[in-house]
Amino acid sequence: MALRIRIGTAVYRQGSARVLKACRRVQPSSPHPRAVPAFVAALSPTRKLASSQSFSVAAAARSLSTSSAAVSRNNTAGESVGVSAWVDSDSTIAVRFPDGAVSRFHGIWLRDHCRCPSCFHPVTKQRLIDTSSIPLNIKPAVMTVEQTKLKIEWEADKHQSTVDLDWLRTNSYAPKLPAGPAVAATRPKRLWDASIADKLPVVQYADVMNSEEGLRAWLADIDVYGIGFVDGVPATPKATEELGRRVSFIRETHYGGFWDFSANLEHGDTAYTQLGLPAHTDTTYFTDPIGLQLFHLLEHTGKGGESLYVDGFHVAEKLRETHPWSYNILSTLRMSAHSAGDKNTLIEPSIKFPILNHDPVTNKLYQVRFNNDDRSVFSHLRPTEVKDFYAALKEWTTLVRSPTNELWTQLRPGRAVMVDNWRVLHGRAPFTGHRRLTGCYHNWDDYRSRVSTVLDKKTM
Ligand SMILES: [Fe+2]
Ligand SMILES: [Zn+2]
Repeated sequence: MALRIRIGTAVYRQGSARVLKACRRVQPSSPHPRAVPAFVAALSPTRKLASSQSFSVAAAARSLSTSSAAVSRNNTAGESVGVSAWVDSDSTIAVRFPDGAVSRFHGIWLRDHCRCPSCFHPVTKQRLIDTSSIPLNIKPAVMTVEQTKLKIEWEADKHQSTVDLDWLRTNSYAPKLPAGPAVAATRPKRLWDASIADKLPVVQYADVMNSEEGLRAWLADIDVYGIGFVDGVPATPKATEELGRRVSFIRETHYGGFWDFSANLEHGDTAYTQLGLPAHTDTTYFTDPIGLQLFHLLEHTGKGGESLYVDGFHVAEKLRETHPWSYNILSTLRMSAHSAGDKNTLIEPSIKFPILNHDPVTNKLYQVRFNNDDRSVFSHLRPTEVKDFYAALKEWTTLVRSPTNELWTQLRPGRAVMVDNWRVLHGRAPFTGHRRLTGCYHNWDDYRSRVSTVLDKKTM
């Protein structure tokens, strides 16, 4: 039986015995997909057919008495460049990318993720296809690789899917391949200690407000260091609020929206006193703690009140190195928290969280929740766990309070600072006199949305 094989726009006809022989020449045990470049090279260009015909996966698979069937991309000179796709023995669709890396996809996954306008709305970026209508064992009838796209015509519904190869690689899962060059390089986080005082990440207010480049620089500082200073801010609540809104809308809480306060105990919280505040993160009592916090000191006539910042990820890393048992306890034992200082307010998270929170998929630390003042009554731990918790907390606190990890800096009118509240702890020294501080909260997801769109130019 003759096979029709489409490579780019060219279509070849070959006897199945000859194709099988070509495959086995490369991999004697079986005509496995790894033989594909040679498989294609072995085809005779003199047997070229009309370009409208294409390679039938099902026919090829039957003829070869194997599940391996392939298409490959040719470059302008007509040589194979190694990009290919085939149906594997377990019915998954294997794709070889330009660097030779191979990943496999289930047919139903590819059909479900079809990005054509009838399956995925190009404007709303929402799925249109009814996933439950896809057969579990859906198979391609025809596959072609053209330039940067994999085209699949499905056997079940004759639907034509076109998949971008870079997109496919970025979203590969069997195995997960490193992102291709077309995907923007990620910015690794830079953990810091007290020495950051010599080279604070600072951008200019005018740049942030007037150019996307300036905003990008600020967002990059917040993403990389968990803290980003802004100089040249007019010392008014209005300019400060506008700066905050450059990142995202403001998150309202029981403290209000944009806040402008002095030590008047307007709210039942130590922040509204002249007392010192040990390093902490805010709103550990919310199920979803605030993501960012902006501070701008507008007035101070007395003494003290220096601001304190500590990189919680750096401290966590030090704890993991020096006291792994403590790291483990603070990553697993869950704590309670509450906010109850205002009348008719009693906020508690819906579930209890540990101090060190890890992504359950990647196991990477993604959030520090630590405010010893807001830690609530707990009675849910076993007796041995109670002892373990206090012992582990002592090691953590020692590192948080180590001067080698503390950034002390005097805020002043004109210099605002945005802090990643899921990573960087903040505090302040006690003070005297009149001190007027302004600022606001932002949601984590809305901040990350700005990083994705403004900084990374990411789309779905
Ligand atoms: Fe705070
Ligand atoms: Zn589609």
